[in-house]
This record gives sequence, structure tokens and C-alpha cells, in this order.
Amino acid sequence: MSSALDVTEALDIEPPTTELARRVSSSLGLSTSPTGTFHGPPWTKTGTSLTRTTTGGASHKQLKPFAAEEIKILLLENVNTTGQDILRSQGYQVTALKSSLPEDELIEKIRDVSVIGIRSKTKLTARVLREAKNLIVVGCFCIGTNQVDTKVAAERGIAVFNSPFSNSRSVAELIIGEIISLARQLGDRSNEMHKGTWNKVSNGCWEIRGKTLGIIGYGHIGSQLSVLAEAFGMSVIFYDVVNLMALGTAKQKPTLEAMLGTADFVTCHVPELPETKNMLGRKELGYMKDGSYLINASRGSVIDIPALIDAMRSGKIAGAALDVYPAEPAGNGDYFTNELNPWAEDLRSLKNIILTPHIGGSTEEAQSAIGIEVSEALVRYVNEGITLGAVNMPEVNLRSLTMDEPNHVRVIYIHRNIPGVLRGVNAILGDHNVDKQMTDSRGDVAYLMADISDVNVTVIKDIYQRLESLGGKGFSTTLALDAQSANEVPARIMTRVLY
Ligand SMILES: NC(=O)c1ccc[n+]([C@@H]2O[C@H](COP(=O)([O-])OP(=O)(O)OC[C@H]3O[C@@H](n4cnc5c(N)ncnc54)[C@H](O)[C@@H]3O)[C@@H](O)[C@H]2O)c1
Repeated sequence: MSSALDVTEALDIEPPTTELARRVSSSLGLSTSPTGTFHGPPWTKTGTSLTRTTTGGASHKQLKPFAAEEIKILLLENVNTTGQDILRSQGYQVTALKSSLPEDELIEKIRDVSVIGIRSKTKLTARVLREAKNLIVVGCFCIGTNQVDTKVAAERGIAVFNSPFSNSRSVAELIIGEIISLARQLGDRSNEMHKGTWNKVSNGCWEIRGKTLGIIGYGHIGSQLSVLAEAFGMSVIFYDVVNLMALGTAKQKPTLEAMLGTADFVTCHVPELPETKNMLGRKELGYMKDGSYLINASRGSVIDIPALIDAMRSGKIAGAALDVYPAEPAGNGDYFTNELNPWAEDLRSLKNIILTPHIGGSTEEAQSAIGIEVSEALVRYVNEGITLGAVNMPEVNLRSLTMDEPNHVRVIYIHRNIPGVLRGVNAILGDHNVDKQMTDSRGDVAYLMADISDVNVTVIKDIYQRLESLGGKGFSTTLALDAQSANEVPARIMTRVLY
């Protein structure tokens, strides 16, 4: 076990008694000095450990978390082993379960842990989060965070991370496969063969070389797709609400209408927003070229599906591929019926339509990338307090400390975003040499990070206790449920001290 004594000796801090060190490490949640940098060199993976690449000069501290084995992590829903390995390599105590847990069992288990990793089935409701007395961070090893009450989490100082873009390539590759499949009517030919019918035709079957692909939404997926499509000899045009640098020889079109009238294949890669709801309806389908193709692997609300059914029946649209739907079942089974979506059976009866169950991002590579991205975010947060990529906290980071700066401490003070709090905090920090400091807020919650030099364990303990006892009250609607008064709660949410 790496003792507090070892660390303090290494940092040249007056050695505390073992008992004090134990109390400091467990009660203050101390970990070793941050190794991250704000504008610093990127993270690299060496074996199973994360390090910063140094570019000369003083080397960054590569210290293990103070009493890392006291950081308990619960991983549910069979989180990918790449993620588990990264967390274990930090020395944390990791328990990984294959399934989700019912709420009462989850509450029992979550009380004890500092970190929880989930996928989409585990619901971290306000009730569960209120019982999570030691929790500092949630890792959603998936794209969405709807399963977490992120507002309540923020109000309790619990950061939430996810991995929104790890599967972009998987989606882009699927779209390329679908473009070829639709152009060659592969789905129909395959279905016929499965029924024993040999139907060799070339009528209405095309190469994709020389055809035009129209991409709606040129973000992570749209831009990847742009590069792949050009490699197949397609011309790429795109429409996006933002003016964007086109990749390769792709061209941005000023309006959706202009793009729709020129493209042989149209594919949607926009987020679900009020403005994107039914953005391809009867009128827009009418602008499309006769005999063109439509693909949607973004969100089910983006296409008016009854209008698409009519456009396919009339021959206006020669083929379509849909991966997402307005209503999608919670689990696998025979659910794609009119009960789920009233037009499902009409859709199923169409020719040259590829229907897939929201698998655009579902690959082994994407799962592995999600495991790495979320675990790295958790490690950075636990060890260094860095919130870059958090979905419910302001994004705060500081340049990392180096081996030339041994007696530093990083103070994190998460508080309600109300007047007067910083005055109190700075009165405490102001007695010391604050090397650098950053504060930002997001909604009701503010996050302060400061690096202070020339401190020993006694000073650290004093700073921590003074921050913990800071006064000030703020209004809250959600936190009020467990606050003493109806709507007043302490300004302080959480104090963390890292060195
Ligand atoms: N099928 C799947 O399994 C799967 C997997 C991953 C993502 N997705 C979905 O794919 C979509 C795109 O994901 P992404 O990672 O590329 O997102 P992104 O945020 O990187 O890109 C979205 C792009 O759409 C643009 N946009 C926003 N509103 C627009 C509008 N009204 N008109 C035109 N352009 C608009 C944005 O400016 C941005 O460039 C999202 O809806 C996402 O949920 C689906």
C-alpha cells in the first residue's frame, strides 16, 4: 500500500503522523498532485497507464493518487474491459458487474463508492443520487446521459462524463455500406435469395462513382463520411447551419433546398432539435431528384416517415435506409409493429428499404473507444479535478504542476453560483501563494480550481477545514429536498484537495 508518508517524503513535506495522514487521506479525499495541463501536451497511453507527453523543460509529476486503493469504483452493465483496465491501472478498487441493478440495490451499493460507471440501463435518479454520499463522479460509458439526473448531480457536486463522439466512424462506415446497398438493391436481392428466388437484374442498379452525396449536418459523422465518399469517387455537397471548412473537394450549399435538388443520395446527420424535427417532410422530399435515395441514421424525428412512404410508393425516392425511428423499443424482440409506430407495417412492405435497429454506432471498436474515453475522463477528474468534457459542470482546467514544484496543493471548491462566495474563498486562499486559479459556472453551480504553493499537510488541512466551514446560503429547488430549510442550502457543495 502506498502510504501517505511515502508521498509526503517525496514531496518534502514535514512527515505527518501516520494517523493524521490516514485521516487526511480518507476524510479529505486527498490525492496526489495533478499531472494534467490546460494548454499542456496531450495525454498518451503507455501500456495501461496514462501519461502526459512532455516537450522539454521540467517534467510533469506522474504521481499515483494518494491512497488510490481508497477510491472505490462500481462499474455496471458490463463496461468494456479497456475502460476497466485503465481504472484498475490507477490502483483504484474496481468492482465490475455485468448487469444493471434495481433501484434499492443500487442505493445500497452507491453509498459506498466515489465513482460509478454505467451504460444506458442504469437510472441515476434524484433519489439514488441523494443517497450517494461519497460519490464525486459518474461515467456514462455510452453516448447519451438521459438516464442520469444531471441537474441534481451537479447540485451535489457530482460531475457526469460521457462519450458522445466515439462511434462517429462506425456510423460513417455504415452509411457507405448503405449507399452501395441501395444503389445495387442488395437488400431486395438478398431477401429474394433467402426465399429461393433467383432474380438477376441490372435495371435501376448503379455504381456510386460519379454520383453526388448530399450530407445534412457536417459534424463528427458527416465530415468523416465526406472523406470516405470521395474515396469512392463521389462528389460531396453538404448543408449545415454553421459555415464549415469543407474536407477534400466537398462543397457547402447555402440552403437545404439547393442541396436536395442536386444530390443523388441524401443522408441526415443532424442532432435532435426543434428545428430538425421533420426537417425532411413532403415539401423537402419534393425538392429531391427523381429516383434519388434517402438515408437517416441521426434521430427518428428528423424525417416525416409517412411522407417518405408516399414518396417511395410513387417512385420519387428509389430507396431508403433508416436506422432510427420516432419510437424505439427498450429491448430486443418482435416490437417493430404498428403498435410502436403506426406506419411500421407500411414501411416494412416497401421495396429497396434497409431497416436497421439503431445500430449505426454499435461496433466493438466504438465500445472500446467509449471505454477508453470515459475512463480517461474519470481518471483526470479523480486525480486532478479536470472537468473538460463534463456534461453538467463548467469546463475547468489548469496548467499542470511539474516536478520542480513539489509543495503544491490543488484546491477544488464546488459551490452555488451566488454573490459573495468567491470573496470568502479568496479570503482563505489569499493567505497563501496562489500560483494559478480558474473559476467558471454553469447554471446554478460554479467550480473553482486553484494551485497553491509552499504548503505542508498542516496547512492543507487548515485550508480544507476553513473552506468546509464557509458560510453563505443559496436558493435551490432540487437540493431543498434534503436541506434544513425549505429553499435555502449552503453555498458550499463540495471541497476537494489534491496534491
Ligand atoms: N445511429 C446511431 O447509432 C448514431 C450514433 C451516433 C450518433 N447518432 C446521431 O447522429 C447525429 C449526428 O451526430 P454527430 O456526432 O455528427 O453530431 P455533431 O454535433 O458532431 O454534428 C451535427 C451537425 O449538425 C449541424 N446542424 C445542427 N442543426 C442543423 C440544422 N437545423 N440544419 C443543418 N445542420 C444542422 C451542426 O452544426 C453540426 O455540424 C446526431 O443526431 C446523433 O444523435 C446516431
